[in-house]
Amino acid sequence: MILVSSLMFIQCTSDPIEGPQGLAGIDGVDGVDGVDGVDGVDGTASCVACHSESHRAPIEESYAKSGHAAGSAVAYAGGRDSCSRCHSNEGYINFITGKPAVAIANPTAVSCTTCHSKHSTFDFENDGHDYALRNMAAVTLDLTDNTVIDYGSTSNNCVSCHQPRSMAPVDDGTGMYLQTNSRFYPHYGGQSTMLEGIQGSFIAGGSTDYPGAGTAGHRKGASCTICHMGSSSDGESGMHTFKASFSSPACLTCHTTVPTEVAGLAADMTALYDKLLALGLIDAAGNTLVQTEKVPFKTIQALWNYKTVEEDHSHGVHNPKYAKALVKNALEAVQ
Ligand code: HEC
Ligand code: HEC
Ligand code: HEC
Ligand code: HEC
Ligand code: HEC
Ligand code: HEC
Repeated sequence: MILVSSLMFIQCTSDPIEGPQGLAGIDGVDGVDGVDGVDGVDGTASCVACHSESHRAPIEESYAKSGHAAGSAVAYAGGRDSCSRCHSNEGYINFITGKPAVAIANPTAVSCTTCHSKHSTFDFENDGHDYALRNMAAVTLDLTDNTVIDYGSTSNNCVSCHQPRSMAPVDDGTGMYLQTNSRFYPHYGGQSTMLEGIQGSFIAGGSTDYPGAGTAGHRKGASCTICHMGSSSDGESGMHTFKASFSSPACLTCHTTVPTEVAGLAADMTALYDKLLALGLIDAAGNTLVQTEKVPFKTIQALWNYKTVEEDHSHGVHNPKYAKALVKNALEAVQ
């Protein structure tokens, strides 16, 4: 019923939604069903709720403030075949529609149609809302171990791009490791694996227990979109700015006083940085340095965990207990 009456609405309205005419034709036949006045009203209201200009304006306004719109790395990474799947509109659409990764001549920043396309169903009541997203299904990570992350929500859209690009190091059995990669890090997109509590490198014998995968408070009760796209209290975060804020109303569903940092983590990160710098494993800017000699594997694990927490960019907030365990045990391993 909802389906039928909703589509009838398109046929009659002057609300400028592009391209629905083909669908509407079918419904003329079922027009009688529209007699059910209740469904008719609901269907119309549900479309207008999102498709009106007054609803769009604040979304567009907030999107203009987002890092996606700014696309600071588009010129550098948006056209390259190994980067474009996350760094440009064209690259992502190629990827998500199953086309091969190719170099893109004139890449543009992520925009509305990067993430949104068309509804897979109009039966929102029975099928749930798809927000016309290109992807909100479970995501199999690009990494070769076929790990799947599934928030069961619109946050799966974020996982498509906010995932790491390399895997944690593996011990060859000797307990020693030759680090020859100047890009020895997970990349800045490791937020989903951090939230999940995976892809850190567990150092044996540390004093702090590693929490199990999927156990973080922020993983079980929150999600990317809840913290990053909720209503805004300051006009500079939430909604389509995609920016999380410590004053987000979403935090108050669990915290009475919102903590603004992971207690003790910053100090441990500084101590770990000092140690890795002294060992010649990173430079002053924190970039990993290529080695010419083997070092103990647990030192390399410490390096990996440092980069994992640093490049997540949430200062441990995504998964406080996991971040703390990774850094605390790493610090012990290099001391
Ligand atoms: C929760 C918000 C929401 C609701 C409710 C909603 N839509 Fe959409 N719809 C979107 C978004 C987001 C897009 C992506 C394209 C855009 O924004 O222009 C979209 C896209 C579309 C498109 C494709 C547009 C194009 O240019 O190809 C059609 C057609 C459409 N919606 C029809 C409907 C109809 C009919 C209903 C009511 C049954 C409806 N929508 C309800 C959010 C919504
Ligand atoms: C098409 C790939 C893609 C998708 C999908 C995506 N992101 Fe991003 N995101 C990026 C890239 C690339 C950057 C870095 C932008 C730059 O600097 O060029 C980024 C940057 C960000 C930033 C930091 C910049 C800022 O605004 O301060 C946040 C926060 C963010 N994304 C959150 C999200 C959330 C939440 C979702 C899901 C609702 C999401 N992203 C979905 C690719 C994506
Ligand atoms: C799987 C998706 C993905 C791929 C592939 C990817 N990136 Fe990124 N990249 C991201 C995300 C997500 C961010 C933003 C995270 C944030 O803002 O914290 C990012 C951030 C960056 C940044 C900004 C770093 C900063 O300090 O803010 C640069 C530069 C960058 N990527 C370069 C590249 C290059 C070059 C490639 C290809 C060799 C590449 N990326 C491939 C997802 C990806
Ligand atoms: C990086 C991906 C991404 C981009 C880019 C993006 N959106 Fe969205 N959009 C989402 C996600 C994810 C949701 C679902 C949010 C939720 O679950 O709370 C959404 C929800 C919506 C909705 C329905 C919810 C609401 O707030 O009414 C509308 C309408 C919408 N987007 C329009 C737009 C428009 C217009 C643009 C461009 C200015 C845009 N989106 C750009 C990911 C994106
Ligand atoms: C519990 C709420 C929460 C959840 C869940 C959450 N985030 Fe965050 N995120 C934050 C906060 C708060 C910050 C900012 C921390 C700071 O400024 O120190 C942040 C920071 C980030 C950043 C870095 C922004 C920058 O300025 O560089 C990115 C990117 C990001 N989150 C993406 C995601 C993605 C993708 C997901 C889902 C996989 C996610 N977040 C889940 C709260 C959350
Ligand atoms: C679903 C409930 C929930 C929501 C929503 C939530 N938190 Fe949390 N938060 C927790 C739990 C539970 C912990 C304790 C750590 C754990 O169990 O993983 C925590 C821990 C933290 C910590 C670490 C404190 C410390 O010293 O270790 C910070 C910081 C934090 N939250 C900030 C935020 C911010 C900012 C938001 C909103 C953007 C937010 N939280 C939203 C449940 C939540």
